[in-house]
Amino acid sequence: MDKILIEGGQRLSGDVEVSGAKNAALPILASALMTSGTSFYSHVPGLQDINSILSLLSHLGAKIEKEGHQIQIDTSGANNHEAPYDLVRKMRASVLVLGPMLARLKKAKVALPGGCAIGARPINLHLKGLELLGAKIDLDHGDVTAVTDGLRGAEINFDMVTVTGTENLMMAATLAEGVTILRNAAREPEVVALAETLNRMGANILGAGTAVVTIEGVPALEPVQTRIIPDRIEAGTLMVASAMTGGDVRLKNCEPEHLGAVIAKLRSAGVIVEIDGDQIHVKGNGPVQSVDIQTMPYPGFPTDMQAQFMFLMSIADGSSLIAETIFEKRFIHVSELRRMGADITISGNTAIVRGVSQLSSAPVMATDLRASASLILAGLVARGKTVVNRVYHLDRGYEALEKKLGGLGAAIWREKG
Ligand code: EPU
Repeated sequence: MDKILIEGGQRLSGDVEVSGAKNAALPILASALMTSGTSFYSHVPGLQDINSILSLLSHLGAKIEKEGHQIQIDTSGANNHEAPYDLVRKMRASVLVLGPMLARLKKAKVALPGGCAIGARPINLHLKGLELLGAKIDLDHGDVTAVTDGLRGAEINFDMVTVTGTENLMMAATLAEGVTILRNAAREPEVVALAETLNRMGANILGAGTAVVTIEGVPALEPVQTRIIPDRIEAGTLMVASAMTGGDVRLKNCEPEHLGAVIAKLRSAGVIVEIDGDQIHVKGNGPVQSVDIQTMPYPGFPTDMQAQFMFLMSIADGSSLIAETIFEKRFIHVSELRRMGADITISGNTAIVRGVSQLSSAPVMATDLRASASLILAGLVARGKTVVNRVYHLDRGYEALEKKLGGLGAAIWREKG
């Protein structure tokens, strides 16, 4: 497996382009199944998770053409209703095909995704919502089988905020008969991006981006041409990289509004963040000050930025409390960071991070995407050469991160394995 090597100590500076958002692209590409014809997608990031959803769509009968960041999907022949374990196990977000397949084919068999490094991650709320829309669900031999004689609108109250759950049900409800109301819906920008794409396909969705989403079902959707929004988590990760190295980095192709909580925390930590249209300029300003963080659904501080901030806090002036409220096991990076000299204590869902003046390099690895990226951030400031093993996870969700950081002056390279 590939490794990434980093020689710490370089200050980052220069311009870097942010890619399209993984978590917006995944549901939007799945939504191609809801029409029959050819849709076009631009600014799709080049990632393993995108390859996984494309393999799945192709297994379901879609024809795919890919050129760089442009993808064309012809779903006229997408009539297979089975998503096998082999494809689903590679990526939990494969479950996003469940709602579209059920709406299109009235039946779907999707392998139940297992838990993962960051938590058990059940899909009970997806399934309960589909039942309310008129699907009959069976769980057997590790597969979810859903059948319906026609989906009908319903009121669905989510017990907790779920991003892909909101997306799955929004897609299923789009082709249901009558009106669906989703309450306590996720408000993430990726949910809004999906709703906008579906509306351009002919759906009638109101309120995406608020906690109450109303969907009036339509009989059919048209193919679409759409551009994927910028990746706010990649942008946030690069912003933290600049802050950690006392850098001077300008990010291009950003949506600063999607990064409100992250920008506010960086500013509280003493980092200079300037916004100019779709560009964000992040400058170090002396030692980083400690700040406390609690992860929350959007517009709160994102769980997908928790590891990166913990790494920033590990070299801050003072102590910081970091509470993870979304996933029960999302502190897996702590033991690796400790090996690099960080001073962190965990108590329940809270980490106490006492800043140290210097991290030192070590061979490390992580079993989660954001944790892997954060180990690279630590490598940027650690004394000596850090080796990040098992970068498979990084490649799932960051497009050429080592090239982007290298372009900003980091001493970083990939060793093929
Ligand atoms: N949950 C349930 N039952 C459900 C659904 C969720 O109990 O049916 C729980 C989860 O176990 C978790 C919480 O609800 O404790 C929130 O999970 P959510 O469903 O919102 O997560 P997700 O939709 O599976 C998406 C992103 C994640 C991101 C989370 C939270 C995609 C493809 N994935 O996951 O992204 O961390 O929302 O914002 O959109 C990543 O990109 O690294 C990543 C993990």
